[in-house]
Amino acid sequence: MVRAIRATPQELDAAVRALRAGELVAFPTETVYGLGANAQHASAVQKIFVVKGRPADHPLIVHLDSARFLHRWARAVPPAAAQLAERFWPGPLTLVLPRAPEVLDLVTGGQDSVAVRVPAHPMAQQLLTAFGGGIAAPSANRYGHVSPTRAEHVREEFGTTVRVVLDGGECQVGLESTIVACLGDVPRLLRPGQITLAQLQGVVGDVAVGPDDAAPRVPGSASAHYAPRTPLRLVADGQIERLAGELSRDGTRVGVLAQRSPLGSFRHVTWVNAGVRPENYAHDLYANLRTLDKAGAACLLVQEVPADARWDAVRDRLARAAAATPPGLDELP
Ligand code: TXA
Ligand code: MG
Repeated sequence: MVRAIRATPQELDAAVRALRAGELVAFPTETVYGLGANAQHASAVQKIFVVKGRPADHPLIVHLDSARFLHRWARAVPPAAAQLAERFWPGPLTLVLPRAPEVLDLVTGGQDSVAVRVPAHPMAQQLLTAFGGGIAAPSANRYGHVSPTRAEHVREEFGTTVRVVLDGGECQVGLESTIVACLGDVPRLLRPGQITLAQLQGVVGDVAVGPDDAAPRVPGSASAHYAPRTPLRLVADGQIERLAGELSRDGTRVGVLAQRSPLGSFRHVTWVNAGVRPENYAHDLYANLRTLDKAGAACLLVQEVPADARWDAVRDRLARAAAATPPGLDELP
């Protein structure tokens, strides 16, 4: 059943009361679910780090219902940032801006910048408007694990530790927001997402790509980021059947995430065909990795995705997940 996408007044009231009391609230956005706290309440924000097991120097994104109070968080909004906000907010875009002096160091990781986003999901909008302030929120998963794209994933991650979980159904995008730092002369893409480099360039012209020395905290740079628990390996299309066959011959269960159906049948292989459309693949990616994680496989073989730009965000997350795989698996046939 498709769940209503708006919170009831009772749900909203409970969530706002929890935020005001310094408690955490998990809520849907169009990218992934967030684990939110009142961004102006230090001990509330501190709980995010404890519950997630996240290193204290990793900065958080502040979520706002619109750009109207942006100046409370950013001391300057460069023209390029204003243009990007105008074009893509509300939406799956995070802007890194010079921080306003009042912003908590816990939120910024002690940096001179702050990450801000205006999500489009109607339930996130309801929550932010009813709360009236900024909500600091990382993805609602334990540190280094796969981001949640359904309310049930959040419950799997945290059980009853997070009491208030707003259920807004499946996240439409399925991958974390595109992050653009607007600190120097040229905007810099720090994390690819649904909004592509070409779309950013279409609005502001020149865009640099990747981390630079002025932005030491690279999003998701830790090798264990976005990784399922099962070791994951990227494989070329033509290798999948052979590898799956060899690995599963002795009864070892193997998970496969491909863009097509298998050629033939295997006894010990759990095969997911995620299709050839990047939007659908992204939408389902984290749910598919969770499903494959539960299949009891010793390893996951993931078909390499196409080289074109529409797959940039997916390719980025898969590369990070593969980087978390222990070296031993690379020595498999
Ligand atoms: O789609 C999303 O962005 C989701 C939803 C919940 O909004 N949030 C999310 O948060 O993915 P998280 O914490 O998992 O990833 C945020 C990334 C982190 O990797 C962090 O390093 C980066 O944003 N970040 C935050 N503040 C930053 C800053 N001042 N400079 C550079 N990177 C920053
Ligand atoms: Mg995250």
